[in-house]
Amino acid sequence: MGSKGGWNTRLTQVTSGGNAYDSLSPPLVQTSTFTFPTAECGGARFAGEQTGYVYTRLGNPTVDLFERAIADLEGAEDGLAFASGMGAISGTLLHLLRTGDHVLCSEGVYGSTYGFLQWMQEHAQIAHSFSPLASEQEICDAIGPTTKVIYVETPINPTLDLVDIELVSRVAHAHGLMVVVDNTFMTPYLQKPITQGADIVIHSATKYLGGHGDVIAGVAVGSQELMQAMRISTRKDIGAVLSPFDAWLLLRGMKTLALRMDRHVQGARDVAAWLIDQPVVSGVRFPEWGDERQQEIRRRQMRGPGALISFEVEGGFEAGCRFMNRLQLIKIAVSLGDVQSLIQHPASMTHCLVPPLERMRMGITDGLIRLSVGIEDSEDLIADLQQALAGE
Ligand SMILES: Cc1ncc(COP(=O)(O)O)c(C=O)c1O
Repeated sequence: MGSKGGWNTRLTQVTSGGNAYDSLSPPLVQTSTFTFPTAECGGARFAGEQTGYVYTRLGNPTVDLFERAIADLEGAEDGLAFASGMGAISGTLLHLLRTGDHVLCSEGVYGSTYGFLQWMQEHAQIAHSFSPLASEQEICDAIGPTTKVIYVETPINPTLDLVDIELVSRVAHAHGLMVVVDNTFMTPYLQKPITQGADIVIHSATKYLGGHGDVIAGVAVGSQELMQAMRISTRKDIGAVLSPFDAWLLLRGMKTLALRMDRHVQGARDVAAWLIDQPVVSGVRFPEWGDERQQEIRRRQMRGPGALISFEVEGGFEAGCRFMNRLQLIKIAVSLGDVQSLIQHPASMTHCLVPPLERMRMGITDGLIRLSVGIEDSEDLIADLQQALAGE
């Protein structure tokens, strides 16, 4: 049974609870292991004949609360928390794929996701390829005899192109394939891929879910059957588990998710509208702009555009560095989705390990800059950008 009410009500409900000691905020069960009243009870819990906690790598009450909260918000049956977004991505893909399989990916993926795809190819002969996935024909043409999974980022990091989740899911399911969507940039507040047909949704919870720049975490949600299988396979045995304290921080951060996202989105709209008018700025990308097909996808599957903006400063990489170095309020840092605005240069930072030709194919030019708009007042962000651009 999902939570009820409007978004802010649901967020406060799903992130509290546990009801331990009648506490209002969730209990932080900071323990590595759990005691058994008897040896027989321990054996029965291991055998799955008795419910109860065993060891925090297998499950923990605070982590469970976080998993249930995000599953509820995404409209999924169950969730599985990981130590990082990459833990969730690698744990999911390794669970779904075998040697000889192929994974079809959206045209661009996060830099470390690209690194992990390379790793799977080299170490396990699990192949991958990329496609814009823009039409039924294009998706069908890109699916091969060994394809098992379609892996989608939308908006794509950092070009912010959109992929039609409903279309991809329909074609994938007709071919018997699973669809995995990285929903990090959107959060369930702005986009719910499960309701569009996706089988598994992944988050780097480090970003908007946590929201305060103080935790590294990941989560996957999907059917109860799939999550349980992953719980006792790749998560248990690879062991990229979330610490109870980090789960507690996430539950705290998520209470204000909708409030923060509304503010992030408004700030991003203000900043993007200002940036587009600047003569030394070009190629401003923001999901609310772009061709009619992209806008049709956005209206259908997204509640709002998110708060990431990509652009170039005239003069390329050097001009971009000079501009970033002059910023005072906006911080130079990778990551995104924090209350503070963060700016980075994908070609030398998040996507530095992607070979230059691949980067060009993904649309990541050497001068591209990505701004994650925080919750600061728009006029202060614009003033900072203005003084930093003034020198160019
Ligand atoms: C879209 C996306 N997915 C996954 C990740 C990886 O998440 P983490 O850094 O929590 O491992 C990131 C990190 O920036 C990301 O931007």
